[in-house]
Amino acid sequence: MSQGKVLVLHGPNLNLLGTRQPEIYGYETLDDVDNALREKAVLNGWELNSFQSNHEGELIDAIHAARLDGTLAIIINPAAYTHTSVAILDALNAFEGRVFEVHISNVHQRESFRHHSYVSLRADGVIAGLGTQGYQAALAAVIEAQRQA
Ligand code: DQA
Repeated sequence: MSQGKVLVLHGPNLNLLGTRQPEIYGYETLDDVDNALREKAVLNGWELNSFQSNHEGELIDAIHAARLDGTLAIIINPAAYTHTSVAILDALNAFEGRVFEVHISNVHQRESFRHHSYVSLRADGVIAGLGTQGYQAALAAVIEAQRQA
């Protein structure tokens, strides 16, 4: 039996991972990230779905769908929408499961406009600066939190 379902959401420009500013974001592709996450999820008896979009509304629609399909947790890297999107915050506020926010880079070491996150107002945990390993840390937190529930 599945331990639960987790949704991984990737915001704008993350489809370019591996070739986009690799000195900041590294050389792993988004498929590498998702495949490694799915492997860890399956090993732990979880179902993992992932979705990337460059469009705010599509990310919001995915969060709405997660409210209805039994998803227990969302791991989200909202990318630039982190710093701008009240709409994504509102959608996450309407989701009852756990929310973990991931940033590949250490946003606090970068431009000041990256220091504020709307999504952090809702997130149960925030991981920044661990590279793509941050997604693995978030998934470990999801699995452990459910184990303790
Ligand atoms: C990012 C940081 C954001 O400021 C930026 O807009 C991104 C990626 C990160 O993963 O480090 O696109 O969320």
